[in-house]
Formats: sequence, structure tokens, C-alpha cells
Amino acid sequence: MSDTRTLMSATVAQDLDTIKGWFNASDRRMFARILERQARLGELGDVVELGCYLGKSAVLIGDYLRPGETFTVLDLFESDAPDAENSVEMQRSYSTLTQAAFERNYLRFHPDLPVVVKAPSSAIVDHVAPASCRFIHIDASHLYEHVATDVDSACKLLRPDGIVVFDDFRAEHTPGVACAVWEAVLNKGLQPICLTESKLYGTWGDAGGVRADLEAWLSHDPFGFVETQRVAGHPMLRAKVRLAPAPAVAHPSAPKPAAPIPEPHPRTGLRRIAKDWLPPVVHARIAAARRR
Ligand SMILES: C[S@@+](CC[C@H](N)C(=O)[O-])C[C@H]1O[C@@H](n2cnc3c(N)ncnc32)[C@H](O)[C@@H]1O
Repeated sequence: MSDTRTLMSATVAQDLDTIKGWFNASDRRMFARILERQARLGELGDVVELGCYLGKSAVLIGDYLRPGETFTVLDLFESDAPDAENSVEMQRSYSTLTQAAFERNYLRFHPDLPVVVKAPSSAIVDHVAPASCRFIHIDASHLYEHVATDVDSACKLLRPDGIVVFDDFRAEHTPGVACAVWEAVLNKGLQPICLTESKLYGTWGDAGGVRADLEAWLSHDPFGFVETQRVAGHPMLRAKVRLAPAPAVAHPSAPKPAAPIPEPHPRTGLRRIAKDWLPPVVHARIAAARRR
């Protein structure tokens, strides 16, 4: 598809923040690091997001898609939720969402849409092949029954070293996610890699390589914090990282950086003589009068 529009950039914080959503600094940088590492290692595979809302995280994921890979996003959008509790969740938090709004946002950043599926998250296994994915972001319903099903879908769809990310695994208002995620760690073989303020990153393959890469990066990044914790015998990183400052060549829509604060002029002429020769108390009174 040929396209002459100037697209916005997901790596410019101000651009991505034009999309309403929940995707904090630590997770933006973690996603970028993990997806970049997969590219560096030549790991190919499809990518899935369950629960895309208006596209904030999908837009960033879409930056890391390579030729031949398919990005599938799934959301209920305006359709009915599969049960009453999920309906309440939709009414409370996402009542104005439309598929058209997601697509408009996505196309401000990318020339082509991902595959968009309008369905409950359990349907993802009907649209994506088993063992085909390298990265899955689970951010649809936050109710236990749904997330537990999403865990099983991710396990089925991921390639051996593929990575799954769970949103809101520890928030006070989402105990169902916490329950499903820790159940996956204790009973379903999920290996935790890392946790941030909002998300838990894991794999059903080898967690050691990616964990070591993240630890090395975060312990040297001036905006990063990392420590290792053990939970039920599983080592995992606890990580935080802020957005890096804007790149030297700013995107045209980025606000202009503040002008540097000028160096104070060296004192010259009469003021310097007054400072050097008048008694301090007299000089201080004159300076205060000038300031007034
Ligand atoms: C927290 S939002 C996703 C936020 C998005 N990932 C971001 O970073 O901005 C959750 C989304 O899940 C969708 N959703 C809720 N229940 C669902 C279900 N059972 N199946 C599929 N999507 C669902 C909602 O419509 C909403 O768009």
C-alpha cells in the first residue's frame, strides 16, 4: 500500500499520549526492549494482543512487526460481553469504545491495520495457529475466569521461547488477574521473567536469557531500577524504568525543548566596582533596592 501521509511515532511520548489508554513508562520501555531483543536474535513469529481498547499498546507493538509476521488484535469493541460480570466491566470502563476509533488511532501511526477480531478473548484460538506466536499481551477482561482462559490460550499459541505479558496482575481492583497469573506460575508451568508496577512478564520456555538481558540493561540505564526477588522458588526481576529523554532530532509534532538557562553575565563596570569596594551591608541594601 503506498501512502504519503506523515505518520506519528510510537517512540515519541507526546505522540503516543494522544491515545487514551493505560500503558505506563516502564512497560513501554520493557515492551520495546523485549521486542527489539527478539529482532536482534532473529526470533520470528506472530504477535497477539487481547484487549486493545483505543490502541495505545497496540501501536507500539506494531512498530516491531517484521515482514511475514501477522499482528492480531482482539477486543469486544461494541459487541456484547459473554457474561453478566463482563458486561458490568464493559459498561463501567469501556462503554464508549468503538472499533472505528481503534482503527483511526492505529492508522495515525501505521500505514496498515493489524488483523482485527471483534469477539470475546476465548475466540483467539480460532484465529491464530498453535505455537505460532513470539509475543502475546493479555489485557482484555480482568475477571478470573476470562484471564484463566487467556492463560491457556497463550500457552497454546506461544512458540517455545515466546513471551506473554499480563496487565494489572496486582491491582486492588483486579484480584482475578492476580489469581489467574499466580495460578499459572504455581500450577501451569509459567516461568516469571519480570514484573513492573502493572504487568507481569513470563514464558513457558527459558526465562534465563531474557531475564539476564533485562537485568544488564536496567542496571546500566540511568532511568532504570532492577532487583531480583524469589517467589516460591522462581527468580524474577522487579523493574522500573522511566522514558528516555526525547531524541536529539525531535519529531515535528514534539514540543520545542525549553531554552537553556543563560549563564549569568560576569559583573562589569560600576556594579563590579560597587560589589568589590562597598561594605557588604551597604552593597546588600543597594542590591535589594535595585531588585524592588
Ligand atoms: C484495559 S483495556 C485495554 C487497554 C489497552 N491494551 C491499552 O494499553 O490501552 C481492556 C480492553 O479489553 C476489552 N475486553 C473486556 N472484556 C473482554 C473480553 N471478554 N474479550 C475481549 N475483550 C474484552 C475492553 O473492550 C477493553 O478495550
